[in-house]
Amino acid sequence: MDISQALQQRRSVRAFLPQAPSAVLVHEILESAACAASGGNLQPWRVIALTGDSLAQVLQAASESNPQEYAHSMSYPANLWEPYRSRRFANGEALYRTLDIPREDKAARLQQLAKNAQFFGAPVGIFVCIDERMGDPQWMDVGLYLQSLMLQATANGLATCAQGFWRKYTETLREPLALPQPYTIACGVALGYEDTTAPINTLVSGRAPFEEWATMRGF
Ligand SMILES: Cc1cc2nc3c(=O)[nH]c(=O)nc-3n(C[C@H](O)[C@H](O)[C@H](O)COP(=O)(O)O)c2cc1C
Repeated sequence: MDISQALQQRRSVRAFLPQAPSAVLVHEILESAACAASGGNLQPWRVIALTGDSLAQVLQAASESNPQEYAHSMSYPANLWEPYRSRRFANGEALYRTLDIPREDKAARLQQLAKNAQFFGAPVGIFVCIDERMGDPQWMDVGLYLQSLMLQATANGLATCAQGFWRKYTETLREPLALPQPYTIACGVALGYEDTTAPINTLVSGRAPFEEWATMRGF
C-alpha cells in the first residue's frame, strides 16, 4: 500500500476483533512512526503500548478513578465557533446515526461515549505522552507522530482510533502506567483489527471542500 492509499483508507475505527497484533508488528509500527519530523529533531514523544493483562490492569484502574480536567486535557476551546462548531456537531450526529441513537437518548449516547474508556475493545491500547514543559510546537510534533503511527497501522492492515479522551487520565493513571513526572498523556490510540461487521465502523467522516480552507496563488 502506498502513502496515498494509506491516507485514503485510514479512518477512526471504534469496534475491534479480539485478535491482538503481534508484538513484532506493534513494535515495528511504533518505531517506524518515529520517522516523523519534529522541530529540532527533539522527538518529544514517549509511548506506552499495552495489551493483555497489562492493558486490563490499566483499564481497571481507569474505571476506578476520577479523571481530572486540566488546561491541556480540554479537547476543544470553550464556546467553539463556526465553522468548527457545525463540523463537530455533524460529526457527532453522523456517529450516533450509525447506531440509531437519537439526540434525546442521552443515556445511550453516554454509554457509547464510555466505550472510549475501554479503547473501544481494541486489544492494544497506546498512550502517546509528552513532557508537559513542552510547548505548542512540540504538541504539533506529537501530532505528526500520531498520524505516522496511524498510517503505518493502516498500511499493515490494522485499524486505529486516536483518543484525546485519555488526556484527563494523566494523574489517575500515572502510577498504573509508571509514567514519570513531568510526562502527560497527549493522546491515546486504540489499535487492532477492525470489526467490519460493527455498524459504528460504517462511519466515514467527510472533509470540508478544498476551497474552504486552502488558497493557491501564483501557480
Ligand atoms: C487528536 C485526536 C483526538 C481524538 N480523540 C477522539 C476521542 O477521544 N474519541 C473518539 O471517538 N475519537 C477521537 N478522535 C477521532 C476523530 O473524531 C476523527 O479523527 C474525526 O472525526 C475524523 O474522522 P476519521 O478519523 O475517521 O477520518 C480523535 C482524533 C484526533 C486526531
